[in-house]
Amino acid sequence: MKLQDLASHVSSEFEKLYGRPPRWIAAAPGRVNIIGEHTDYNDGFVLPMAIEYYSVMAADRPVDGREVITLRSTLEAEVATIDLTRPVRPAAPKWGNYPRGVVAGFQERGIQPGGLDVLLHSTVPLGSGLSSSAALEVCTATLLEAVTGTTLDPVEKALLCQKAEHDFAGVPCGIMDQFISALGREGHLLLLDCRPRTTELVPMSDPSVALLIINTNVKHELSGGEYAERRAQCEEAARNLGVESLRDVTAVQLEAGKSKISETVYRRARHVIGEIGRTVDAVGSVRQSDWPAVGQLMYASHAALRDDYEVSCEELDVVVEIAEAIGERGGVYGCRMTGGGFGGCCVALVKASAVEDISKKIAADYKARTGIAATIFASRPAAGATVVKG
Ligand code: GLA
Repeated sequence: MKLQDLASHVSSEFEKLYGRPPRWIAAAPGRVNIIGEHTDYNDGFVLPMAIEYYSVMAADRPVDGREVITLRSTLEAEVATIDLTRPVRPAAPKWGNYPRGVVAGFQERGIQPGGLDVLLHSTVPLGSGLSSSAALEVCTATLLEAVTGTTLDPVEKALLCQKAEHDFAGVPCGIMDQFISALGREGHLLLLDCRPRTTELVPMSDPSVALLIINTNVKHELSGGEYAERRAQCEEAARNLGVESLRDVTAVQLEAGKSKISETVYRRARHVIGEIGRTVDAVGSVRQSDWPAVGQLMYASHAALRDDYEVSCEELDVVVEIAEAIGERGGVYGCRMTGGGFGGCCVALVKASAVEDISKKIAADYKARTGIAATIFASRPAAGATVVKG
């Protein structure tokens, strides 16, 4: 659904619920990462794009003038409320913690949002590695900017949202998701250098190629601490190798320092160092429209995430195997898991003319091999967060 249509839909739902039209509407997209996985918290490079799927919030001041933010969602039965007369802390229901953390971030900066009636709607598939949570945080921040008449520096806005995720959702995420949701540009990938936090837009408008997102529709809830564990292993590697972060280590230096780290930590570091290099190479190849080269880098990324970083799972591997079997002849240049891992989505770079055939083939083979129905869709690189009304 186009953003304007989506916003009209949320507007009329708001009116049904609260009995008046909203004064503000804000939206922020989810993202798919083309390459550069688990590199952001290692000061590396990432290459995501915003997708045409959004978190949308419609809002108005409450009629009773109370200093309370009431958050309702079209997807959740439970209502979340934030009492602005007290310190804002994590609370039930869980989904309210993302906006809650963002409200706290505004207050820390001395910006008081004031009471609000809000309706949230999201088309970003939840828990599928497409950053529904970052979209929700950045959407909240964009709404609060409109409501308070302030404009945060986009980098500060992304950091505020990342802090909300750390402190209110307990996830020690990197900065990729919030950056791309805030700073995405239509028709472009975003190269983010996570060390100085600088960005570069990389045009991606060749009509002969498309990006397919294949949702495995599985989410393996392991112990839940895998992300934090990977992050700690990377920090351990950097510490033992005597550097600030893995960004400072070359493949040759890693081999030379192998005896200083455990075998597992060595493999984690090998993925990160290789992936930082692959991301830089991929940008060069995208700029030259060398799609076969980009595709090979995507396959190599997947293999390292599967074997060295160990964040893939059977279903993601099956999708990549099917894509590889279709091959360039059938229109697939490359495919890899995207996002944190353990389920969620794969991203495939394909010939635009073959999108339908490839989607059908992947859906059929994935169903045959796993018994699960995948959800497959294409998205062009979309714009980042916007105020639709207000
Ligand atoms: C999650 C995190 C990001 C990033 C990816 C892995 O999406 O939120 O910061 O670390 O995993 O690349």
